[in-house]
Amino acid sequence: MDFVIKGNLCYSDRPECLTTLPQGYLVVVGGVYAGAFEQLPECYQTLPQTDCGDRLVMPGFCDLHLHAPQFAYRGLGMDLELIEWLNQRAYPEEAKYSDLAYAGRAYDLFVDAMRKSATTRLCCFATLHAPATLLLMEKLEAAGLRGYAGKVSMDRNAPDDLCEPDAGQAARDCETWLREANRRFHLVKPMVTPRFIPSCSDELMDSLSALAREYGAPLQSHLSENQAEIDWVSELCPKAVNYTDAYDRFGILGPRTVMAHAVYPENEEIALLKKREVTVAHCPASNMNIRSGIAPVRKLLNAGVKVGLGTDVAGGQTLDMLRAVTDAVQASKLYWRLIDQRDRALTLSEAFYMATKGGGAFFGKVGSFESGYEADAIVLDDSALPHPQELTVLERAQRALYLSGDCRIVQKYVAGRSIL
Ligand code: GUN
Ligand code: FE
Repeated sequence: MDFVIKGNLCYSDRPECLTTLPQGYLVVVGGVYAGAFEQLPECYQTLPQTDCGDRLVMPGFCDLHLHAPQFAYRGLGMDLELIEWLNQRAYPEEAKYSDLAYAGRAYDLFVDAMRKSATTRLCCFATLHAPATLLLMEKLEAAGLRGYAGKVSMDRNAPDDLCEPDAGQAARDCETWLREANRRFHLVKPMVTPRFIPSCSDELMDSLSALAREYGAPLQSHLSENQAEIDWVSELCPKAVNYTDAYDRFGILGPRTVMAHAVYPENEEIALLKKREVTVAHCPASNMNIRSGIAPVRKLLNAGVKVGLGTDVAGGQTLDMLRAVTDAVQASKLYWRLIDQRDRALTLSEAFYMATKGGGAFFGKVGSFESGYEADAIVLDDSALPHPQELTVLERAQRALYLSGDCRIVQKYVAGRSIL
């Protein structure tokens, strides 16, 4: 259906600018924006209008990295570092998804929370289990969400119940799942998902790389998150010059690759990420919680690397992408203060851009109200943030980002379809 959304519009068409249109008009034609207007053009005046009153209207947010099966234990194990956290928390929980009934209950909770969140597009990890991953995709698609989900591939350095017996079996499982997922789903598509180098043998990496090419599927993994992990990768891949090169040797870095974290990239790695057009998912909450560090986001941006934001639930404790925006700003201020004063801190508008149009580029024309962009939006009620003084729409949007916990998402559109 074609329609018009009227409200206080806030969006970002470039990193340096958060644009607002108080009581503006957002025209949706065929699931795509015809544009955002101060005055409704004559030709759209016959379309039905949804009046959002005094509420804020923002583009849908794009969560480029999170783990659906970890939603169930978010907020636990936060005193651990990555490897211990994986062994003590992530793996025991993920092993439960061999039980489809358990997976169904847990994924219902996850998908319901995701539907009510600010996120419209996501790249998520599932678990090793194909049936549970298909169930997750079915639920995400039924909820009207869009993006990618990945059956996780791992064949080493994990408990027996989370390890495929060998690389050949792991690759066959992945291919069977890719075919079925491609056949059954249209809005939530499969993403090849080697967990990270320590979990995947060279043989499995080679096979997954070939499958991604053969099926034209995107690929996601983790890169350079934690110092012990980096040391482990250099032991496992003695021929690789660095962690990024360890992936590049398998031919898996390209414009349809998302790499989460990149907390400790060397200069040559940053250059390679740029050259291969990889998208980095910056996950500030996770990097703080499990003490990984602070990613050099300004350096990545200056080098021309594409950077979006991720919650990395359950490394990150919340699905709230507005919180991810302000976490990114706060983390970069600490980076500037404590690590390198040449790297100017991120501004709020830069972080907002990364969470919307920046990360949205991975999904196509997504994350903005400009003409031609898919009609994703959230309607935000900020009335629980009362103020005695006059505030502009821009000031209200800034407060809503920092105080998102006190705001309520009252409507949500994905490609022009209302899903709340
Ligand atoms: N590296 C490998 N697996 C994981 C995971 O589940 N979470 C995070 N944060 N890092 C990882
Ligand atoms: Fe992760």
